[in-house]
Amino acid sequence: MNRSRQPIAGIGTGYVGLVTAAGFAQLGSEVWCVDIDAEKIAQLERGEIPIYEPGLAECVMANRERLHFSTELAPALEHARLLFVAVGTPPTYSGDADLSAVHAVVDAMPSSDHHALVMKSTVPVGTGAAIRRGLEQRGKGGFGYVSCPEFLKEGSALEDFLAPDRVVVGDQGDWAGDAVIELYSPLDAPLVRTDIASAEMIKLAANAFLATKISFINEIANVCEETGADVLEVARGMGLDRRIGTHFLKPGIGFGGSCFPKDVSALKQLAGNSGYHFQLLTAVIEVNELQKRRVISKLQKHLGSLVGKTVALLGLAFKANTDDMREASSLVLSARLQADGAKVRAYDPIAEDEARKLMGGVEFADDALGAVAGADAAVIVTEWPEFAELDWSEVAERMPGRLVIDGRNFVDPEAVRAAGFIYEGIGR
Ligand SMILES: NC(=O)c1ccc[n+]([C@@H]2O[C@H](COP(=O)([O-])OP(=O)(O)OC[C@H]3O[C@@H](n4cnc5c(N)ncnc54)[C@H](O)[C@@H]3O)[C@@H](O)[C@H]2O)c1
Repeated sequence: MNRSRQPIAGIGTGYVGLVTAAGFAQLGSEVWCVDIDAEKIAQLERGEIPIYEPGLAECVMANRERLHFSTELAPALEHARLLFVAVGTPPTYSGDADLSAVHAVVDAMPSSDHHALVMKSTVPVGTGAAIRRGLEQRGKGGFGYVSCPEFLKEGSALEDFLAPDRVVVGDQGDWAGDAVIELYSPLDAPLVRTDIASAEMIKLAANAFLATKISFINEIANVCEETGADVLEVARGMGLDRRIGTHFLKPGIGFGGSCFPKDVSALKQLAGNSGYHFQLLTAVIEVNELQKRRVISKLQKHLGSLVGKTVALLGLAFKANTDDMREASSLVLSARLQADGAKVRAYDPIAEDEARKLMGGVEFADDALGAVAGADAAVIVTEWPEFAELDWSEVAERMPGRLVIDGRNFVDPEAVRAAGFIYEGIGR
């Protein structure tokens, strides 16, 4: 058998699970996908893709005959030895990761010495060891375990899966680790094979570092605003230093999404639970929360009281090219604006359905021009490519207010000003 094309199972068919399944199917594996969400499985069986991710629908359709969807675990166990786990690990109130979905999967495993769990879900350090202990106590010690954290980014998830910067495999040097490595071998990515705890920590540390970079440049941006420097020039000058690098030096309205906020807080809690106070991450989180609210003070600076004012939010997803609204800055903005007495009109090209479930009291428009009609100010919240194409003179005809706040430093300030607006970016 060509081991790189061995059949696998995917447990959880969300952003990570479905992309992983489609990616391995593209590489030639039969993939047995399992999810407890019967509606999601029914959609997938009908050929409908429940999430928006560029190229994913095409990839699923192209590999349709190798992808099998079910709510039952049995077919997956029958056909595959490696069971990739990609269930959610959302934050609890304390900031720790909620591992109940992971434990539900582990508890459903039978006794077997020819199967292994491959953990793609982001879990605290020590989870793999605890799962192994639990399996042993229940006489299921033969069940293999590999930590294989996922680093894909929503918005380019499939691309990232097929061309990863590295593949991290944490295992005990047994058949399961070898099999995971063979499965990834066609991708020719640098491999980090290590112990399970280190693999778990690599994922958390990488996300915490990226979040730190964002909060750092956001603070530099805020100081630039006070001192008259332009943060884009500063970031360019900093980023060309190869020790620093240009990525993640884009100031904005704070990071959101399903990973950074939860993983930073999970690492902080993990450290705290072990008796270590991770001071730096406390600041990273606080800076991020304040950054989301800075737009409000920018609005107040120009409009005074926000009572009765209409503010148009352009873009709602936590970033472009995704429909994911988890921890999106737009949620905080919309709630703060309404609490201050403003009316919120919003437009997002993809995330509206998700946004409607999460945002109360908001009027949704069909396009950007509809959102700005009659507004006192417009805020660019998500860097959707279509906003770079906006005709600002047309915006000026619809919008009586003169204020544009560019929360992503995304549109051309000169074009906005030429249409008669006051332009406020972040840190410029
Ligand atoms: N989204 C990302 O960009 C990203 C990137 C890297 C890592 N991760 C990590 O990957 C994991 C999954 O994230 P996601 O964004 O794909 O989550 P998601 O919420 O989109 O998907 C999780 C899926 O798991 C299913 N599920 C829950 N319990 C189940 C069970 N017992 N059996 C079968 N299916 C079950 C849910 O129905 C859902 O479809 C998380 O730990 C996350 O931190 C996410």
